[in-house]
Amino acid sequence: MNTLQIPLLFLVCWLVTQETFAEDNGVGLFPPLGWNTWCSEASCEQHHSKGKLHDVCNETEIKQVADAMISNGMFQLGYRYINLDDCWGATKRAEDGSIQADKNRFPSGIKNLTDYLHSKGLLFGLYTSAGLYTCSSGGRDEPIPGSYGHYEQDAKTFANWGVDYVKIDWCNTKVNGKEIDPETVHTEFSKALNATGRPIFLNLCRGYSYPPPSYTAKVANSWRVNGDHHDRWDDSTSHVIEIMAPVAKYAGPGGWNDPDFLMTGGAGCDDFSMSHCPGQTDIEYKTEFSIWSITASPLLVSTDIRNMTSIMKEILLNKEILAVNQDKRRVAGGRVGFHDCSEGKEICQIWARPLEGLSKAVVLYNAGKDDHDIVLDFKQIGWEGKKVMIRDLWAHKDLGSFTGDFKSHVVSHGCTMLNITLTDE
Ligand code: GLA
Repeated sequence: MNTLQIPLLFLVCWLVTQETFAEDNGVGLFPPLGWNTWCSEASCEQHHSKGKLHDVCNETEIKQVADAMISNGMFQLGYRYINLDDCWGATKRAEDGSIQADKNRFPSGIKNLTDYLHSKGLLFGLYTSAGLYTCSSGGRDEPIPGSYGHYEQDAKTFANWGVDYVKIDWCNTKVNGKEIDPETVHTEFSKALNATGRPIFLNLCRGYSYPPPSYTAKVANSWRVNGDHHDRWDDSTSHVIEIMAPVAKYAGPGGWNDPDFLMTGGAGCDDFSMSHCPGQTDIEYKTEFSIWSITASPLLVSTDIRNMTSIMKEILLNKEILAVNQDKRRVAGGRVGFHDCSEGKEICQIWARPLEGLSKAVVLYNAGKDDHDIVLDFKQIGWEGKKVMIRDLWAHKDLGSFTGDFKSHVVSHGCTMLNITLTDE
């Protein structure tokens, strides 16, 4: 080894040891950006016609979404995953036991679809359940088989199809009257995926207790920390935000907390009062995106990106907030304190995330019913009395230089999202 090779070897060793804190399968080094079928137009139409929640997808819709992701600016900003939720599987396995797609919805087969998406530079995800059946029949009259008893076979099928992301849900997990053990089966499935040799992002959807037990980070690239997120503020988004407040310590390169899909804009779901369809204001959608970003969460949009409304564009294409989500330091943020405002001690919240260099992202969030002035004391972000430069990431505006503290007027359910850079030591 010559003198040049020694520092190179150290660099390689350092990179290898620094790269991941979690599942070391080479993917999920940054939170995934993409789309999921869960609240697409088709699913909402079906929901409307049957009066029940159904996720419906088909190959025409998926190709249109893929094309839209490329032409509407999302692809250029890093969105890559096109994921099918509980809507693609056939009601029966093939004779050899292999899992198959619903032929009515995917007449050309999954491999063709995957090839199409890959040819556009996109990545493809599928859904399964750890149990005997999936969680809903997605509009079909019979239940859809889950992967129980077929973990290895399904992992191979997914890899052969060129799948890049698998979400494993937790439904119908009682086998012979006994609940299966999450750690055992998640580990088994994760090993089966890794054994295929194809790097596949693994998302765990429930089964374990909360907060996420330590095994989740060893076997998966993201894990749900809550039940389903719906397009409603009071009993959904505001709760998910509270759940995300203390969980930053569980996340890192290779493994991320998953607060579930983004409901941005609710497009495609115009007049539904229940389940997924729009129940939030533009302000609430912005707060949702801000919190998902500062917590380094997956940004998987589940509304109809073929019809981008102005609020969807303003949110999903906000480069500066996406940069926070994808920051190279890869340290998740969370709630660091409160500003005691008139409505209650825990209403005006301060969230922070260390970024690369001498910057931090900060969200001043108003969980209350009234509007409030929220004061950030720089002590709350470890910079007591310091001088900083502040930029507003929603207004895309430099606000100037501040020493010691900063005040912002924040409307009910809204937030101010900032990039704060230290200018003196
Ligand atoms: C569960 C999951 C959801 C979704 C549905 C599909 O409820 O938590 O994210 O995948 O199943 O049926």
